[in-house]
Amino acid sequence: VDYARYFSAESRSMRPNPIRALSSVINRPGVISFAGGVPSPETFPADDIAEIAAALIRERSAATLQYQPTRGNRDLLEYVAAFMQERGATRVSLENLVVTTGAQQALDVIARNLLDPGDVAAVAIPSYIGGIAALQNAQARLVGVREESDGIDMAAFEETLRRQQNVGAPVKLAYVISNFQNPSGVTLSDVKRDIILDLAARYDFLIIEDDPYGELYFDAPPPPSIFSRDRTGRVVYVGSFSKTLAPGLRVGWLAAPAPLAARFELCMETAVLCPGVLDQAIVAECCRRGLAADRLPRLREFYGVRRRAMLDALAESADPQLRWTQPDGGLFVWVDGPPAIDAEAELTRLVESGVAYIPGRPFCIDDSGKNAFRLAFSKESPDRIREGVQTLLHELSRSV
Ligand SMILES: Cc1ncc(COP(=O)(O)O)c(C=O)c1O
Repeated sequence: VDYARYFSAESRSMRPNPIRALSSVINRPGVISFAGGVPSPETFPADDIAEIAAALIRERSAATLQYQPTRGNRDLLEYVAAFMQERGATRVSLENLVVTTGAQQALDVIARNLLDPGDVAAVAIPSYIGGIAALQNAQARLVGVREESDGIDMAAFEETLRRQQNVGAPVKLAYVISNFQNPSGVTLSDVKRDIILDLAARYDFLIIEDDPYGELYFDAPPPPSIFSRDRTGRVVYVGSFSKTLAPGLRVGWLAAPAPLAARFELCMETAVLCPGVLDQAIVAECCRRGLAADRLPRLREFYGVRRRAMLDALAESADPQLRWTQPDGGLFVWVDGPPAIDAEAELTRLVESGVAYIPGRPFCIDDSGKNAFRLAFSKESPDRIREGVQTLLHELSRSV
């Protein structure tokens, strides 16, 4: 059977994740890996989760092994509402919230409901591959806006908005990762959060604010979310427990103006009926016990030490041809190498020398980023980070 004949237009627009394609190279044993953008398993509260899960199954199986309403576990929704209110989103209530199977499902559901084929969505260059893919699966046309050290270049963005309006293809949706962005580590500044809201009102588009890293700050909390400042109902916020508890639980959420949340709930009904009930119950119990909040200071310390080791090792190189970001949180540093470097072509040789990263190009919708790469400081110990950065820089300097 020629199955391709049966594929829908949406299916045909799907592309494999370029990072997965690299996995046989970057996951080679013994390699110091700055590739995987995942939290360290050392941080997972495994014993607590084991005990909580056992108790939930033994004592409350009628609820925890049963279907539940699509919106999610009521206790969990209340914890999420309180969490967002404490961070400035004072008006958020249960009618605004939908639990999802990780932030990724929220991105998928939002893109499906807000974009028709050919609609224009704006993304940062560089940006998160899974977010780009969600927009592409909805067959949106993507326009890119360069990032600066304090987030997307708002003058260039306004220029893009104006141009798109003039050609009759206005931007409908902007995808923004406000804190410690994946892949760059960059945070959108306080003033730019207000500017993007102003642009959204003037140029009539909606904003997806994707924020899985906001709690992983190292010094001071990031500025209040775009969502919490919004008075016009133009922002959909996406949160996740993946980076603060464990990604295997697959629990995230979206917060949106009530009519949008109701739409997204409808879509979730056919997608999953309800997200994993046991997973949600585990996360709700972690919140009830205070464990989800109590562990945050240790988590920030854990990743902060690794960030420092990586930035110090990069600074020691004193290579004037290298530029890198200065993340105040999250898991990533973005490096622009010498212009002559092809980070994708160099990867196999670097892995043979014992160190791995993710090349920059897959994160850039305009095919730029050839000489750039993303370094995740989450997986390796500080000593291995220093050793890996030295090897990496030594090998790169040999290739120019
Ligand atoms: C920016 C961003 N958004 C969303 C996700 C997906 O997270 P989740 O595990 O909650 O689906 C990730 C995962 O790495 C991410 O980096």
